[in-house]
Amino acid sequence: MGKNKSLGIFDSGVGGLTVLDRVLDRNYYDRIIYFGDTARVPYGSKSKETIVRYGKQDVRFLLTEKVDEIIVACGTVSANALEELQTSFSVPIRGVIDAAADAAAKATRNGKIGILGTEATIRSGIYARKLNAIAEKLDVQSVACPLFVPLVENGFCTFENPIVRETCRYYLQPLKEAGVDTVVLGCTHYPLLRDMIAEFFGDSVTLIDQGEALADTIPLGKVSPSELSLSFCVSDDVQLFQKNLKVLLRHSVHPAVTQIDIGAF
Ligand code: DGL
Repeated sequence: MGKNKSLGIFDSGVGGLTVLDRVLDRNYYDRIIYFGDTARVPYGSKSKETIVRYGKQDVRFLLTEKVDEIIVACGTVSANALEELQTSFSVPIRGVIDAAADAAAKATRNGKIGILGTEATIRSGIYARKLNAIAEKLDVQSVACPLFVPLVENGFCTFENPIVRETCRYYLQPLKEAGVDTVVLGCTHYPLLRDMIAEFFGDSVTLIDQGEALADTIPLGKVSPSELSLSFCVSDDVQLFQKNLKVLLRHSVHPAVTQIDIGAF
């Protein structure tokens, strides 16, 4: 195709769409293939070994599509498997943690940063390590929010829903009490809950979106929407994903969704 690059991007499910949205804003790639491992979501409750194995299969599949670069649009894989992926494959592979950690360190005024993530991301301790490498004195408080992903995958995203409101209060109250002024949405599903997280914390807390932070590092290109070839693959039901795509992706696209057998890669 044109002079631009092709991109493979993956997540365990629909969460990576929040990263894709931000990547699309950059008009940089002229071919993008998104893979959502919907048959095996959630990744966040799995062991590191399983997450590494799944991540390798996801990359192997995308490489069959001859992509030039890969973005791991999943906080869990970025936290637990990025180095293994980078040493196992020669294609450039980027995760979502570094840019978000930099953005959080820049945003905080009182040095207190909250991290929300899946169990596997919080267990990895990666944000605290990265942030303390940027500035030792940063106070990093992390909270695993295992119920957020199933809420999002089931379309429960508004504060009017009492289950959502109570879950939110349960996970976020300790960070409010700790006085954090910056909170990293450390799972790519969480921007889909952004309005209610923002409402809970109020204006004095800055929310960091991993996809937004990563997209800020991608050059601004000139690929128009009509020049872009965008396709989606999933490992489970195509119709369900198509429905989610319409609701969750800000950019309006009407591409085909294909089901693949990720176990074969
Ligand atoms: N969206 C993924 C993340 O950023 C994972 C959600 C899950 O599969 O648990 O961590």
